[in-house]
Amino acid sequence: MNLLFVASECAPFVKTGGLADVIGAVSKSLATTGVNVRVLIPAYPAVAALVATGKTVMTFDDLFGGRARIVAAQAEGLDMLLLDAPHLYDRAGNIYLGPDGKDWHDNDLRFAALSFAAAQIGLNGLGGWVPDVINAHDWQAGLVPAYLRQDGRPAPPVVMTIHNISFQGVFDGTRLSALGLNADQFTQQGVEYYGKISFLKAGIALSQKITTVSPSYAAELLTPDFGMGLDGLLRERQLDLHGILNGIDLDVWDPETDASIVATYSATKLAGKTKNRAELEARFGLTKSDGPLFCVISRLTSQKGLDMLLDCLPDLLAEGGRLALLGTGEPYLERAFIDASNRYSGTVGTIIGYDEGLSHLMQAGSDAILIPSRFEPCGLTQLYGLRYGTLPVVARTGGLADTVIDANEAALLADCATGIQFAPINGLMFGHAISRTCALFAKPKIWTAMMRRAMRHPVGWDLSAAAYLDVYKSALAP
Ligand code: ADP
Ligand code: GLC
Repeated sequence: MNLLFVASECAPFVKTGGLADVIGAVSKSLATTGVNVRVLIPAYPAVAALVATGKTVMTFDDLFGGRARIVAAQAEGLDMLLLDAPHLYDRAGNIYLGPDGKDWHDNDLRFAALSFAAAQIGLNGLGGWVPDVINAHDWQAGLVPAYLRQDGRPAPPVVMTIHNISFQGVFDGTRLSALGLNADQFTQQGVEYYGKISFLKAGIALSQKITTVSPSYAAELLTPDFGMGLDGLLRERQLDLHGILNGIDLDVWDPETDASIVATYSATKLAGKTKNRAELEARFGLTKSDGPLFCVISRLTSQKGLDMLLDCLPDLLAEGGRLALLGTGEPYLERAFIDASNRYSGTVGTIIGYDEGLSHLMQAGSDAILIPSRFEPCGLTQLYGLRYGTLPVVARTGGLADTVIDANEAALLADCATGIQFAPINGLMFGHAISRTCALFAKPKIWTAMMRRAMRHPVGWDLSAAAYLDVYKSALAP
């Protein structure tokens, strides 16, 4: 099967969050099962070196205001297609945001271009390679089926994957012709969304199949609390919606071989974790203690619920815990965690920024990772935590609920607990979960058994890649 992935980021080339990890890892995994998968992303400056190694396979005289081309290049076991359109993507800084911290003013054109280019590959192929299925990821690729439909020629089916419904790509209705869309696309069955244009809504309405990144989130999306205005449409398309759990790249996230950590270790030889903890303490200016070292590696946004952690911090410290936090995001949260590290110097350490290597060291050197998200389509940091024996303390929602087994009495008796869950999602219950974690940590035998079990918990892509393949097949033969 020939498969075209369309996304706005792909690890290890360009990453702002979990989407990139998933695109890189699932395409690699599908390739090992014999699928011929190519990944189309924009050629941002971060991939300039990769573009230089590739060859031009398609050109556009005018792609939304400038010349453009698609460059094919291979690296890191991936077949990449890079949409080189300097007028849209050759900009320093964040791939979504301008220097003022706001969305680039032309994000509609930037990602319409990505979707349009993908549709051209679907319609015309690339040097004889024609995708059987196109998998469009998140709103940035949502217009793929709209452009295919508008062309009218026979086209491959599209599978739309929702990684996070809170990002929908909504733009003014007056932008229709600037986006190259005909007036007849502006309907309830098409791109129209309460008088505006929604890229994600278009993707959901017009694709043959829809997937999201965990079974629980698939169910949550059908409710007004989580569907964020698209739950009605998703209920209509319920039979075509599949929740497929994310996995992780076991080659990149492996405590036995990880080059970013100070000492490697495994479920049978845990000793290396101590050295990583010492390095982490030094990096975050933490003094030694007998209590658990908690970490956070996260975007600092309201989704992630870390404002609740600020409220719980005094109790966490009173129980003997310490905290190392790495993140960037909302300025008020950044400031609050910097203030906390000043106030509780030696027991709370904050690093504001994005640092891939440090995130590996934190997974290796911490005892537990805190993820109190208000909603979480899947979440990857709890999966990295499991693999590194850093027990996840998570809100019971979305993929967090699906991947962590709570250390309740029954699970402890049955020897199956791998972390701590809490619900309902509020500061009180989060604080209670932190206390439970501290109490478990004080029982080394139980804690070590949980670490070992967590490290053996299957978090790879095998099962989920097979589930994607089933969805592609069903899209081909509905
Ligand atoms: P989301 O995609 O919603 O941000 P995920 O848990 O799915 O959440 O994925 C987040 C990814 O980004 C993980 O790989 C995590 O390690 C990484 N990450 C988040 N913040 C940082 C940071 N400040 N520095 C390094 N990596 C980070
Ligand atoms: C989104 C979600 C996150 C998920 C990731 C990859 O960013 O917020 O929960 O793990 O996509 O699918």
